[in-house]
Amino acid sequence: MPPANLIDGRAIAELIHSETAQRIATLKARGIEPGLAFVRVGEDPASQVYVGMKERSSTRLGIRSTTQVLPTATSESELLQVIDRLNQDSQIHGILVQSPIPSHINSAAIYSAVSPGKDVDGFHPVNMGKLLLGDRSGFVPCTPAGIHELLVRAHVKIEGAEVTVLGRGNIVGKPMAALLLQKGRNANATVTLCHSQSRNITFHCQRADIIIAAMGVAEFVKEDMVKPGATVIDVGVNRVADPAAKGGTRLVGDVDFVNVQGKAGQITPNPGGVGPMTIAMLMANTVRAAERVTL
Ligand code: GUN
Repeated sequence: MPPANLIDGRAIAELIHSETAQRIATLKARGIEPGLAFVRVGEDPASQVYVGMKERSSTRLGIRSTTQVLPTATSESELLQVIDRLNQDSQIHGILVQSPIPSHINSAAIYSAVSPGKDVDGFHPVNMGKLLLGDRSGFVPCTPAGIHELLVRAHVKIEGAEVTVLGRGNIVGKPMAALLLQKGRNANATVTLCHSQSRNITFHCQRADIIIAAMGVAEFVKEDMVKPGATVIDVGVNRVADPAAKGGTRLVGDVDFVNVQGKAGQITPNPGGVGPMTIAMLMANTVRAAERVTL
């Protein structure tokens, strides 16, 4: 088998950023500056990194961003007040409350409090419901939307494909499945959604034309689980012990990349695959939110 064809998420994300930048220029010519508010509760190290990356992308593209960092002990009602103020702020077009939220706060209540029109994360029940119904007027969660863009722009055939999604989380697995099974162009897939209680995940992977691994288990997808020529998308970010690495740990995906690469038709590198696309879709969703209220 020749080495698999890498799907370059960084390059595709840059392409989307350049399209988004054009739309921002159009808005700015009309005197409108898109505004995106980040809210981070607590000091989760990964969330600090992710919000930092999203801030830098906003600045680079000309989206005005603000970040509120709240202490871990913040109460649910305090966080709801912060969201309420952002909902009412006409300079803010998008609101993102970084997940995970501390466990004493009901995250469903928080995501339901964000105004659906500013919900650039696509986590509000209205936007989730629209996705399930095939109503394109809502916001689609950024990681599944980014994976969909990757597949389309890498010319992976989705229509009629057998897709196995690993992981049933609200941020990736469930919305990913909903997106790919829609009736319509670049959808119409037959989707199998596997999770921790699924029997024989290997069987479901082996017959898949596209595997999307988003269950958060380090290097779970092995070579023998992949059909020759299949497309493999790795969403995982897992920190594993590695005495040889700086700091004693390193990050790996949900795919055993080194061994799967030679078997897959196309595969995302990790990092450099899905991650940059999530940010690109967040920027695009924010600009869409600004266009909606102002055009
Ligand atoms: N945590 C991991 N992914 C995401 C995301 O897409 N949005 C938010 N808000 N938090 C996350």
